[in-house]
Amino acid sequence: MMLFFKCTRSGLGIWRIQTRVWRKTTTVLPEMRSMCSSVRWKNTIADQEQDTNYQFHNASWRHLVLGLMTGTSAILAYGLYRKQEAEPKPETLLKNKAQTSYPVYTRQEVAKHKTVESGIWVTYKSDVYDITNFVELHPGGDKILLAAGGALEPFWSMYAVHKQKHVFEILEEYKIGELRPEDVQETCDVTDPYRKEPLRHPALKVNSLKPFNAEPPVQILSENYLTPNEIFFIRNHLPVPEVDPKQFRLNIEGEGLKSVQLTLRDIQTKFPKHTITATLQCAGNRRSEMNGVRQVKGLNWGLAAIGNAKWAGAKLSDVLKYAGLPEDIDAKHVQFEGLDKDITGSPYGASIPIRKALAKDGDVLLAYEMNNEPLPRDHGFPLRVIVPGVVGARNVKWLNKIVVSKEESKSHWQVNDYKGFSPSVDWDNVDFNSAPAIQELPIQSVITAPSNDEHLNSDMNEITVKGYAWSGGGREVIRVDVSLDGGQTWRVADLSEVKPNEGQAWAWKLWQLTVPLPKDQKNMEIICKAVDNQYNVQPDTVAPIWNLRGVLNNSWSRVKVTIKSK
Ligand code: MTE
Repeated sequence: MMLFFKCTRSGLGIWRIQTRVWRKTTTVLPEMRSMCSSVRWKNTIADQEQDTNYQFHNASWRHLVLGLMTGTSAILAYGLYRKQEAEPKPETLLKNKAQTSYPVYTRQEVAKHKTVESGIWVTYKSDVYDITNFVELHPGGDKILLAAGGALEPFWSMYAVHKQKHVFEILEEYKIGELRPEDVQETCDVTDPYRKEPLRHPALKVNSLKPFNAEPPVQILSENYLTPNEIFFIRNHLPVPEVDPKQFRLNIEGEGLKSVQLTLRDIQTKFPKHTITATLQCAGNRRSEMNGVRQVKGLNWGLAAIGNAKWAGAKLSDVLKYAGLPEDIDAKHVQFEGLDKDITGSPYGASIPIRKALAKDGDVLLAYEMNNEPLPRDHGFPLRVIVPGVVGARNVKWLNKIVVSKEESKSHWQVNDYKGFSPSVDWDNVDFNSAPAIQELPIQSVITAPSNDEHLNSDMNEITVKGYAWSGGGREVIRVDVSLDGGQTWRVADLSEVKPNEGQAWAWKLWQLTVPLPKDQKNMEIICKAVDNQYNVQPDTVAPIWNLRGVLNNSWSRVKVTIKSK
């Protein structure tokens, strides 16, 4: 596995060249104009992001791996070449237009249609659409109204999930006209907000490219107690901001505080440097298994939207004291805002209970280092919050502002996302106000090797099962049980020997179990389940914890393997 890792690192040179080629091809053009107009918004965002993702990965992931293995970029170039060929050129689309008989509108005429009363019109390239009846069906809610009376391009360049066939098919249903040719070019030159994204390691499996979301192959995860920065999962909702560390300022304000601005150097020098090892897990880790029960909305994360790193920075409690936080504060929350902003200028945001922020053993950090290096750009350079034991979503990256408040953050991701619901709740009856924002995560364990559907050779005498286990809130994993017969009998796995302080078990434990390979079996279902020091256990199946956003999947981890003779 180390060999693979080194190999992929050395592949970076090739990948850089590829990235440049790929950037040139990112203007996705509708393959569209399909005659099929009965398609509704049946796929979830997860589907969309998987289907399209994207020029780079669907087109070249297989070629990339082959390229890395053979040491040649020819295969990579071939993959991209084919993809480029498959896409229609803008001129072709415009030429086809000449043969249609739709009414022609000016941009000014379109701009008059911004309300339900006048009809909500939008344009895409040379076409005009009346989407009044679609607004309610839009999975992204009323954000679609931002484009009312104007072009979709600036919004779609932010949320590239739209640029795929079935979305164009839906849009086609609402076509009412075409733009006057002189008005068409005006919006085609939209600057891509993702044009300055950092380079990423080619081993990452991409779940969505814009915004960038990716996880490492799960087999690599259990090879390292500290997940290397290059392959640590990345969960971005927006473009990665470019921050000049010299210009960077952290703003602190709120209940009982004087407003304070700190430079990065202030944070590094005015406060003691505190180091913790903590696991960060996205609420959507293992969402793909929920899709196996019933389709959910969200990125189709596998088993690796989790990682463990050594984080260093100033303690949030020290910084808040410096800003004058009184002992008897009656504020309940600490809110965070990132520098990454959506099209309306709203930043990514989240909050945590002030109790966690101020707890002596809470270890909440304003982190500027990850595994002894400055934070990588994808992970929040130059400063992020690390809230150990708490869901990834509250660990705000590119930290810009801290507000101490009686109120929770009003951010979309605090209020209308990252919450759990009953399996009986679906999109037609969900009330996000009825559930609390996820904070501490439940007990979790996963089998990382062997992989599902792996063929084992019956000549092998032994099999080693490996995985990770972790619990939220600083609760220590005390045991991992493993079954090789679908849950009829169990053995206890060996846990990595790291003894945390009581209530501060922020880091995962890697585990393994080596057992003789059963000789008389053709198939095996291997299962693992962990127990934490509060005796919390994992539920055995996914269905009873299914929820519409596909969060909090901590069911028993299962892999099926086949034993074959040579
Ligand atoms: N902070 C900002 N500013 N913007 C984001 O999109 N994503 C959150 C959190 N902090 C996010 C953010 C989510 S949902 C997760 S799971 C973690 O960052 C992921 O951190 P990572 O990308 O460093 O692994």
